Amino acid sequence: MTRVIYGNELAKRIKDEMAIEIKDIVAKGNRRPCLCVILVGEDPASVSYVKGKDKACKEIGIESKMISLPFETTQEQLLSIIDRCNQDDTIDGILVQLPLPKHINEKVIINSIDPGKDVDGLHPVNVAKLYSNEDGFIPCTPLGVMKMIEEAGINVDGKHVVVIGRSKLVGSPVSRLLLNNNATVTMCHSHTADLKAICKQGDILVVCVGKAKMITKEYVKDGACVIDVGVNRVNGKLCGDVDYDDVFDKCSVITPVPKGVGPMTICMLLKNTLKAYYK
Ligand code: GUN
Repeated sequence: MTRVIYGNELAKRIKDEMAIEIKDIVAKGNRRPCLCVILVGEDPASVSYVKGKDKACKEIGIESKMISLPFETTQEQLLSIIDRCNQDDTIDGILVQLPLPKHINEKVIINSIDPGKDVDGLHPVNVAKLYSNEDGFIPCTPLGVMKMIEEAGINVDGKHVVVIGRSKLVGSPVSRLLLNNNATVTMCHSHTADLKAICKQGDILVVCVGKAKMITKEYVKDGACVIDVGVNRVNGKLCGDVDYDDVFDKCSVITPVPKGVGPMTICMLLKNTLKAYYK
């Protein structure tokens, strides 16, 4: 029997716990945790993601500050806004929605965020902490992936995990996080030779390639746990990087798309905001 791990259900449970925790914080006379999300321009996908984050914050009692800036905003203007957020003691977490317009240098912007408020875990200080296995902010999607594996009752210690994809937001940090938890990790990417043979060795497959339904049963070892991080739109319908119907019978655990990793990412953003608040 294949077990489906629903991220929306797991996220709801974690959010309910956080809501109680925040209620308690406020009842004791403390201010609410606060997340500031900065959006430059009106990219429809980004607008939708930002709305989702705003809604999730409000649901559990985190104060949400949304700063929407016009596409023409200059790098200097954005840096000045981030500086103000860095100085503002009532803001715990800062997230600059990516991608940014081409005239703004993403690295310069990320580096300008106070590492103690970097709930995205993208600042070099937090990246270095992840790589030296020190406590810092870890990107939200990798955290969500770990929670889902844990929910499946799988201990990654000693397991062979094959990660397909090496992006700075998902593939790279999730690989390191798994390694920090004593998994044996193989990182695959677009230049990997004989990808199928390597994937077939994985007790766990973490798929973040960005290609709709690319992973079919030929890539999956019998009884593997398959975590699908992909979000693709095919003929107006959302689907993952895994061909769900094709691989279903072959795996012991699978995450769907939608209702899989996606809701966990936002949930972990809330967790990181709460962590920033306590710091
Ligand atoms: N755009 C798509 N995913 C993300 C994310 O995790 N963080 C930020 N800042 N922007 C994104």
